[in-house]
Amino acid sequence: SAARRGASRRASFVVVANRLPVDRVENPDGSQEWRTSPGGLVTAFEPVMRTHRGAWVGWPGSPDDDVEPFVHNDLQLEPVHLSADDVELYYEGFSNGTLWPLYHDVVAPPAYHRDWWDRYVTVNERFAEAAARVADDGGQVWIQDYQLQLVPQLLRQLRPDLKIGFFLHIPFPPTELFQQLPWRSQILQGLLGADLVGFQLPGGAQNFVRLVRQRFSYETRRDRIRTPDGRTVVARAYPIAIDSSSMHDLAMSEETAARAQEIREDLGNPTTIFLGVDRLDYTKGLPERIRAFGELVADGAVDPADAVFLQVATPSRERVEQYRILRDDIDRLVGRINGDTGLLGRPPIIYLHNSYPREEMAAMYRAADVMVVTPLRDGMNLVAKEYVACRDGDNGALVLSEFTGAAKELRQAYLVNPHDIDGLKSTMLAAAGDSSRNKARRMRIMRRHVFDHDIDHWAGQFLDDLGKLGPGSDY
Ligand code: ADP
Ligand code: G6P
Repeated sequence: SAARRGASRRASFVVVANRLPVDRVENPDGSQEWRTSPGGLVTAFEPVMRTHRGAWVGWPGSPDDDVEPFVHNDLQLEPVHLSADDVELYYEGFSNGTLWPLYHDVVAPPAYHRDWWDRYVTVNERFAEAAARVADDGGQVWIQDYQLQLVPQLLRQLRPDLKIGFFLHIPFPPTELFQQLPWRSQILQGLLGADLVGFQLPGGAQNFVRLVRQRFSYETRRDRIRTPDGRTVVARAYPIAIDSSSMHDLAMSEETAARAQEIREDLGNPTTIFLGVDRLDYTKGLPERIRAFGELVADGAVDPADAVFLQVATPSRERVEQYRILRDDIDRLVGRINGDTGLLGRPPIIYLHNSYPREEMAAMYRAADVMVVTPLRDGMNLVAKEYVACRDGDNGALVLSEFTGAAKELRQAYLVNPHDIDGLKSTMLAAAGDSSRNKARRMRIMRRHVFDHDIDHWAGQFLDDLGKLGPGSDY
């Protein structure tokens, strides 16, 4: 096995995230294996850890699982234990029932429960203690995402010698939404424990600085905050990226080309393959996109003998109520459209509720003529960047929601407002029917951007900045 047990080693570079890059999964025959964890955070961070080495502190993905520190595929992994109650109150509850919807523009109603908050505090303390154990003297610790916003301050109390960075992978909300949170001051104080707080977009960083100024009257200047204990905290945007060249190389391999051809044949050799790839999440705008495609078929603008929509959705947070509701909604919507408009052997929508290896994803991207990315709100959306990295030549079109971080960079995408079903329909048609020349030009510009701003560049910028801040610096 690729996993090797070992005692914790101290590391001068430590990443702390709710999840480890791999999940422990149990097979039907009772055997266990490690599988890549879902979501963009892990996609982005895995290559960062390969470049910068160090240790990764996180949860192995199932409740009540006691795992010793171990090495997996060359990465040093330091498991944090979560009980079934922790998973329910801290992970499903406060992280994904309160913070996730609140930070995504309340597209679902956030719930505020004091016992969820109490457990969020307790579990954040546990992550801070684990990081404090693993980090070497004067080391750098980089804390990730909304599940761990108290860790910067808690860790600073335990280990004032460390340089502490924090990066929020999801949007930081407008100030008036953030103010709903009964524990808003504690969250801000938690983040202020870091030397550098990173956001996807400049607007998020500005919202954070404004809130700190309003709530605590700390002195702020542009992206800098002075705390009463005399520290400087910097809040800045670092739009996250992907490992573009390895994604590209994978997509361009002969095996992937053959698999892409096979996928096209399995789908009945349609002229146009539309593709959606997401975690099954209510922020992703799945019903909007499926409804729009269904209407195109019903209107006769799209012929199901000629076009197909392939939607791949990774199961996600399945015990959280809003996710259950979404799953049922999608099942019903897809069933209705296929039943009403499908031809024998040619359902217009192929819906796969499953996750696939990177190789298979690359083949799907390569097979797809139109990639449809329609979140109602998304911090970045790496799927859009992956699609661009997998394209070559003069075909392929990206339909992209204005409400993603990626839309700020990929300006040559066919941009849409996913709330506008008519706009979505006409943009999907326009993207499919555009000339090769136009598609090639748009893709070339986006490809250059995705290659020039890859994950190495991203991590390098954050860590360079962090290196200049913190204990011992006079920034
Ligand atoms: P989020 O982080 O909200 O899930 P992103 O688009 O930023 O959204 O990242 C999603 C990541 O998960 C991408 O790397 C994508 O390739 C991967 N992914 C999404 N759906 C699937 C799937 N069905 N199977 C395998 N990987 C998937
Ligand atoms: C998004 C979040 C990550 C999270 C991932 C998967 O990318 O920003 O923090 O890990 O979704 O979600 P999950 O709840 O399964 O960890």
